[in-house]
Amino acid sequence: MSFAKPFFGGNWKMNHGPSAARRFVEEFVALYEPHDDRTVVFFPPAISLAEFRAAAGARDDLQAGLQDVFWEVSGAYTGSISAGMGRDAGAGFALAGHSERRHVFADSDEDISRKVGAIVAEGLTPVLCVGEKLEERERGEVESVVTRQLEAGLSRLSREQVEGIVIAYEPVWAIGTGRTASPEDADRVHEVIRALLGEQVGETSGRAIPILYGGSVKAGNIEELLAAPEIDGVLVGGASLDPSEFALICNAGGR
Ligand code: PGA
Repeated sequence: MSFAKPFFGGNWKMNHGPSAARRFVEEFVALYEPHDDRTVVFFPPAISLAEFRAAAGARDDLQAGLQDVFWEVSGAYTGSISAGMGRDAGAGFALAGHSERRHVFADSDEDISRKVGAIVAEGLTPVLCVGEKLEERERGEVESVVTRQLEAGLSRLSREQVEGIVIAYEPVWAIGTGRTASPEDADRVHEVIRALLGEQVGETSGRAIPILYGGSVKAGNIEELLAAPEIDGVLVGGASLDPSEFALICNAGGR
């Protein structure tokens, strides 16, 4: 599968229940026209996914995904959601390894690799999130942390399956803090990720895999981020909650 770039993801986290999701979509569709030169994917809370789809109606350019999955298909796993259930509710994507899953809910590299495997097995596109903590950056470990997370996250996939994924680089210190990595800093890490993907799938296929940047992206910094050569799109948290701000972001980077 290949996606039009730039790729804009809106991760609502634990915000916007079903009625707020409907109100958001009603406002957003008036501010963002369908474009065929970009991809827009929302990650509402799972409980809002069906309402999101229903409110989007014929706007199938507004795609949706899960924020997390459990790797089993079904069973006695109270509180969990499987990738197949997400597909049934209208998801085409699922995040795996978001920093809040890693650091608030203690998802390990092994857990994330199982989740990525389950997402792919159900025919959804995983958005594998990687990124270092501040102390890791200060110790000069950015490359080793990102490499470890990426290799573990992809370890259950075949070469063809790797070709169909999306990666998001989100330095933990930039998430929800108002501190954005400079486009140059982000671009440098994206180059490392691009090289690793190239080793797995070959240079040409590696180039086609979208690598998103995430961490305090807003309307005020979207243009400079998208101008960086290796940044193929963004994963937006806080600024995706407001329909006008997120519409400004999704309308950016026009050619
Ligand atoms: P933020 O979150 O835009 O609020 O920093 C980004 C993310 O966690 O995906």
